[in-house]
Amino acid sequence: MTSRADLLKLLSTEGYVSGEKIARGLSISRAAVHKQVQKLRGLGYAIESKRNGGYRLTARPDIVGPEELHPHLAPGCLFAGNIIYHPETTSTQIELKDRALAGAPEGTVVICDRQTSGYGRLRRNWSSPPGGLWFSLLLRPPFPPEQVPRITLAVSLSVCRALETTLKLTPRIKWPNDVFIGTRKCAGIITEMSAEVGHTNWVAVGIGLNVNNRLPVSLARSAVSLKEACGARIDRAMLCGEILNDLTRTYATLCCDGFAALKKEYNGRSLLAGRTIRVDTGFETLTGIFEHIDDDGYAWFKKTDGSIERIAAGDVSILKSQI
Ligand code: BTN
Repeated sequence: MTSRADLLKLLSTEGYVSGEKIARGLSISRAAVHKQVQKLRGLGYAIESKRNGGYRLTARPDIVGPEELHPHLAPGCLFAGNIIYHPETTSTQIELKDRALAGAPEGTVVICDRQTSGYGRLRRNWSSPPGGLWFSLLLRPPFPPEQVPRITLAVSLSVCRALETTLKLTPRIKWPNDVFIGTRKCAGIITEMSAEVGHTNWVAVGIGLNVNNRLPVSLARSAVSLKEACGARIDRAMLCGEILNDLTRTYATLCCDGFAALKKEYNGRSLLAGRTIRVDTGFETLTGIFEHIDDDGYAWFKKTDGSIERIAAGDVSILKSQI
């Protein structure tokens, strides 16, 4: 841990902490403590100081660097070891893929406050102004490429659980990669991979969550921020930490027991079950009723002629009359 993280940990206890205690805890001089405190203030931390009383942390800035995330990560969190934070980057997904190619370890996280070239599925532009959660995760799953699409499903489950636990919201999953609050999308997931026949090299999972950010006017009817859904500003580090903790467990379940172990909960959170939808699979466009997701993470889809089609992934639109 950096000394900044250590200092924040010491300051996270209730009340004032003496300069002497901090100096001893960090094995630095009192003057160095003062310097570190000034640095934290410069980053937006509100720290009160009292002559002979020490220092007291009263407010944290809304940033999502490793120092802010670590206090929210549970012991054993897969994503604690290698968190790379930027105030601004082109796309966390682009950077994560570069790092994956260079041999970065499983669990690497790239996170930022603002993306200048964020993208979603089918290379659609992804608006990423400050205040949202824009991050990418590196996985090196022990299963073959054809089983990788179920990672998207596991991630959307973790996002839903985190929103429910921390914000008391009732999100729904629009298979395969969107999370909705009511009739509007609050989060999207993109899963890209490098693979050979029978072997998955790595998987880059990109998660975009509209949290405290403003949405472009063009998305006002189709997207929602969590701030708007809750009527209050959200602690992004806390929410991101909860997603990473949940995903650590969900990914372990997926690797050990397969998607069958997650299927019931996933289907229970489905926005699409029983709805008439249009799916573009990349090869064809189908219209019919969405039924459920099976043990392999495939969607069962009843076409207008009554026959059933199993689909691994696709671009879904709910037919307008039902939204
Ligand atoms: C979608 O709904 O199409 C998926 C959107 C994924 C956006 C995230 S934001 C973090 C990461 N970096 C990107 O450029 N894209 C993903």
